[in-house]
Amino acid sequence: MRAWLNGHLLDDPHGPAVAVNDHGMTVGDGVFEAVKVVDGQPFALTRHLERLERSARGLGLPEVDLDDVRRGVAAVLDEEHLTRGRLRITYTGGVAPLGSGRGDGPPTLVVVADVLRPTPETTTAVTVPWPRNERGALAGLKTTSYAENVVALAHAAGRGASEAIFANLAGHLCEGTGSNVFYVVDGELRTPTLASGCLAGISRALLLEWYGGREVDEPVGVLDSAEEIFLVSTTRDVQPVTRFDDRELAVGPVTEECRTVWRAREAEGVDP
Ligand SMILES: Cc1ncc(COP(=O)(O)O)c(C=O)c1O
Repeated sequence: MRAWLNGHLLDDPHGPAVAVNDHGMTVGDGVFEAVKVVDGQPFALTRHLERLERSARGLGLPEVDLDDVRRGVAAVLDEEHLTRGRLRITYTGGVAPLGSGRGDGPPTLVVVADVLRPTPETTTAVTVPWPRNERGALAGLKTTSYAENVVALAHAAGRGASEAIFANLAGHLCEGTGSNVFYVVDGELRTPTLASGCLAGISRALLLEWYGGREVDEPVGVLDSAEEIFLVSTTRDVQPVTRFDDRELAVGPVTEECRTVWRAREAEGVDP
């Protein structure tokens, strides 16, 4: 692992670095991105940086200095060639009082690079009893306030699944803890709209551009009769779901096509 903090590579990426009263640490006042590294190059970095900016604005953090972020990315990647890796870019409110009020110190920017282990070809998912709040202040933002996802994912893991699927307050399908959901009904590929409160996933956007699909909001129960279900994310790519709650599913033809398109197009460029 390599780590860069506020302009400097750390000698020991596992050692203490961020202040104990950093607002990201104390109250989750921060935003982040997880970026795949393919053959030493960050994949879709421009889209990730645009989303980082949007998330920071949504939280009311100071504008992100994207040149600085790119310098951090280059610094951690220069050190070591990652055939398949992941970057984690974190931007927080910086040192602040211990409560929810912000301080006036500079923001904290961290870039970390690490190896990305291969993701299983297929996976299993379960619905969780807690809703996503599509009307909340953080809806659609990629913030470090991810403890709801931690709880939901632990719930899924306790049921032998690798992903937890949320409905939103309207009872509509929303997203996973770290993935967007696609499904097939009557041969038609569908995914929730961004109004569902799901994150505007980079993989979701690329697949819609490269393959197509209908964005629609409908009750989460649609998954109980969907012919095919798959997840997309930076770390999963296109990952078929072969068990959803208690139902077994085959890897269907639409999912296969999406996986093929994804692999071909991903190989074409690192910053699509
Ligand atoms: C809540 C949530 N939804 C969806 C995604 C998928 O987004 P992306 O394709 O940009 O990785 C993520 C990514 O980690 C996420 O955290």
